[in-house]
Amino acid sequence: MKEKKRVLTGIKPTGEVTLGNYIGAIKQMVKLQNEYESYIFVADLHALTIPQDPKELKERIKKFIAMYIACGIDPNKSTIYIQSENEYIPAISYLLECSTSYGEASRMIQFKEKSKNNANFSVGLLTYPILMAADILYCDSDYVPVGIDQKQHVELARNIAERFNKKYGETFVLPEPLTTTEGVKIKDLKDPSKKMSKSEDSPAGVIGMFDSKEEITKKIMRATTDSDNIIKYDMENKPGISNLLNIATSLGDLSIAELEEKFKNVGYGEFKKYVAELTANHIEKIQEKYNQLINSEELEKILNKGIEKSIKLAKEKYEVMKERLGLSRN
Ligand code: TYM
Repeated sequence: MKEKKRVLTGIKPTGEVTLGNYIGAIKQMVKLQNEYESYIFVADLHALTIPQDPKELKERIKKFIAMYIACGIDPNKSTIYIQSENEYIPAISYLLECSTSYGEASRMIQFKEKSKNNANFSVGLLTYPILMAADILYCDSDYVPVGIDQKQHVELARNIAERFNKKYGETFVLPEPLTTTEGVKIKDLKDPSKKMSKSEDSPAGVIGMFDSKEEITKKIMRATTDSDNIIKYDMENKPGISNLLNIATSLGDLSIAELEEKFKNVGYGEFKKYVAELTANHIEKIQEKYNQLINSEELEKILNKGIEKSIKLAKEKYEVMKERLGLSRN
């Protein structure tokens, strides 16, 4: 029996952790870990759906773990682990694949976008959300904090779980996606019609959590905006300014309405300076913690403890699933 509701999230190490990942997922987890039994992992199997350099990937996985902790994930409150170290997860994923139709998987927006204009996409790109369902369902996660771009995948996990429960008996908790109240999706600073994404080849538009103060300031000061010179939230007509307002409200104490009021009669330059300083100072503090952590032995211990707990839960769920499906010997 669970004592508390569970919350879980993961990030795939296809590039350095971005400000989008921090605001969309990690920051939410930092709050939620005080209330729920929390699980956070590096989704390294998901990274393989697009080509990776093995050496770089290996380094990045460790950096992600240290970055989670530097951002405020507390190893005493959250279970932290590396997805590929739990071999039950892909095994569970396969069982779930057999309960998912091809049509359902191929309707996922991200699959459609990433397979378009790419004749050589891997089968893994199609099954990717089902592996994500396995991540979520093995440990009976009640809530999954994600950016809005991943909401559809959490809903798929819920549909798969519901169908499995109906057909084979109660097996899974039905998960709910948790997006921040504004459903915020941090946009690329150069092209605010796109999300800020680590896999995107747009270094000027993406703030990385390892960027220097100077780089962050430069990127924000050069962010694409409109020419109205009015600081007002309007995602449709003023995506650049609205994106900066989203960043500022996520990292500071002021609401969007308060920011609009504060910068009512001020030009974009002043406002950008404020957002740049706020962002650079916030990230600088995280980097200081990261530097203390990255080479500490503590990380190994945290990961050993995390994976042990994760494997225990996944093994139990796998056995139940096999039994329900008629795969057990007795
Ligand atoms: P990934 O690695 O693309 O992104 C990790 C998390 O960061 C959020 N995010 C954003 N939020 C706001 N603005 C942005 N610009 C932005 N960019 C990314 C994403 O919504 C996500 O929450 N498939 C997942 C990883 C995953 C996972 C899971 C997540 C694997 N298994 C189980 C939750 C539960 C992914 O590729 O996220």
